[in-house]
Amino acid sequence: MAPENNNMPETFEQIIRSRRSVRSFTDEVPRIEAVKEITASAIYAPYASATGIPLSETRKVFVLKQNSEKMTEAVELLFSQLKKSSAKLDITLMLLPFLRKKMKGFAERLKAVSDSGIPSLKNAPYYIIVAEKKGFPPVEKQSLAHAMQNMWLTATHLGLGFQLISATGLMSKNDRFLELLGLPKGEYELDGCVIGFPSKPPETAKEFDMDKFITWVE
Ligand SMILES: Cc1cc2nc3c(=O)[nH]c(=O)nc-3n(C[C@H](O)[C@H](O)[C@H](O)COP(=O)(O)O)c2cc1C
Repeated sequence: MAPENNNMPETFEQIIRSRRSVRSFTDEVPRIEAVKEITASAIYAPYASATGIPLSETRKVFVLKQNSEKMTEAVELLFSQLKKSSAKLDITLMLLPFLRKKMKGFAERLKAVSDSGIPSLKNAPYYIIVAEKKGFPPVEKQSLAHAMQNMWLTATHLGLGFQLISATGLMSKNDRFLELLGLPKGEYELDGCVIGFPSKPPETAKEFDMDKFITWVE
């Protein structure tokens, strides 16, 4: 498929190395074919067949368009859930101070996000949610990560920006959010992302010294 712009990485290696988090988007809406290619790549990602659940039942992808009634409601629900989760975590840390060392950083981050919201959810053209059915072994989170990564690399290949919206996971127990997606309660884990055109060129590919990370065990 033709890229959405001319800054597209060409080789597979370039796609892997130029994949970055994009957190600010223009109002321009990507072509529907690009969105279809990105969502299709989530379906091609590996899933846990050992659970015995067929893929058609295991994975569901939802595309929400900016300014649509359902997107607006989904984002409001998510922000109010973020506030509730942040308040709950603050109380937990007050009651169980020994958890502070481990969880303080996350609690502060959650508080900041719950105060200021997630700006891209208000301007990215598409919010994509993937639902993965819970099973045994309980590997739905790993499966979701594969689906998100496929979409991230496809978006990068097409010259589009991508941001993970991990807070989507908090909504797997939110009755109204599940109702909005037509999902039954308690059966699916969720993850999400937004896509669109980056408002500024994504940061350049990072350089890593592989010797610091990789050990050849011989
Ligand atoms: C499990 C996981 C969850 C993440 N959740 C978010 C998120 O909710 N919002 C966000 O902006 N970035 C999120 N990120 C992206 C990381 O912050 C990002 O990948 C990291 O800072 C490296 O930057 P890069 O993606 O530009 O290479 C998440 C990454 C991982 C692996």
